[in-house]
Amino acid sequence: MKVNRKGFLDIPVDPELDLFKEIDRLKKEKNAVLLAHYYQDADIQDVADFIGDSLGLAQEAARTKADIIVFAGVHFMAETAKILNPDKKVLLPDLNAGCSLADSAPAPLFRVFKEKYPDHLVISYINCSAEIKALSDIICTSSNAQKIIESLPQDQKIIFAPDKNLGAYLKKKTGRDMVLWNGACMVHEIFSVQKIMELKARNPKAKFIAHPECEEAILRMADFIGSTTALLKFSQTDPAMEFIVGTESGILHQMKLASPEKLFIPGPPETNCACNDCPHMKLNTLEKLYLCMAYETPEIRMEKPLLDAARKPIDRMLEISKRYGL
Ligand code: 13P
Ligand code: SF4
Repeated sequence: MKVNRKGFLDIPVDPELDLFKEIDRLKKEKNAVLLAHYYQDADIQDVADFIGDSLGLAQEAARTKADIIVFAGVHFMAETAKILNPDKKVLLPDLNAGCSLADSAPAPLFRVFKEKYPDHLVISYINCSAEIKALSDIICTSSNAQKIIESLPQDQKIIFAPDKNLGAYLKKKTGRDMVLWNGACMVHEIFSVQKIMELKARNPKAKFIAHPECEEAILRMADFIGSTTALLKFSQTDPAMEFIVGTESGILHQMKLASPEKLFIPGPPETNCACNDCPHMKLNTLEKLYLCMAYETPEIRMEKPLLDAARKPIDRMLEISKRYGL
């Protein structure tokens, strides 16, 4: 079965089919594992074998014994799973599921930028293309970035790419003067300071929790800052009963499941759009997921030299994370 030019299987699905059952059946039949990011739709999270943040998903991909990895997330995540499993089939329901942050760092421009700092080590956030990974020394995620930076000698010069917001946050946290690439995530840049202030005034007991991809002005208002997994854990363990959540709205599903007695309010964007929904993540649907498992396409394919070059900095990340028990 060929993927159409759109990058996904565009064939009708029988509306009578119980897709949850069918996806479970296909998982068993094909010895496939379904990995999903917290930003996926609730029904996709419900059918997944493992739900996690970018670090958790990479670690799960590294340890899986399944023959097929089905990635309900975006392209750079599925690509990372492929880099870690060059001999396995890695499927992504819609190849168009990209990432504005990854797109903000085109490899040819980054190569020229890097050449200006020959004595710098490159730490890249996992939200980047395999080509950028191949140009990097260590990959990090929002869960382990601080520890990775702190594991390096104080006098080590660093380029941090591609997220300028996460980079600025890490500069503050670690006191390291890193050179930053000027990239950002479209979802985390739309939160409104004014509207969050108004929400806090209306819900004085609510805590504002935010992802470090948000802009500095937003992070300054936060009671807690962390990766999606850290935000989820905080919402479970903190005694507060109300939370305003400054990240993509998909995470609210797991927060509500874990703490049904608590109230979770999505962080408000500047306009009345649903722009704290990631349009890339939301390209994956239950129907596309079912079709991609049934026909084993679209598949992530990469040339061996790129696979090998991109693997080294990911292995380095996994090794440092293990050392620190992350
Ligand atoms: P984490 O999964 O590391 O929390 O990052 C969030 C994100 O934006 C993924 O695209
Ligand atoms: Fe990329 Fe932002 Fe979407 Fe995450 S939320 S996939 S960083 S665009």
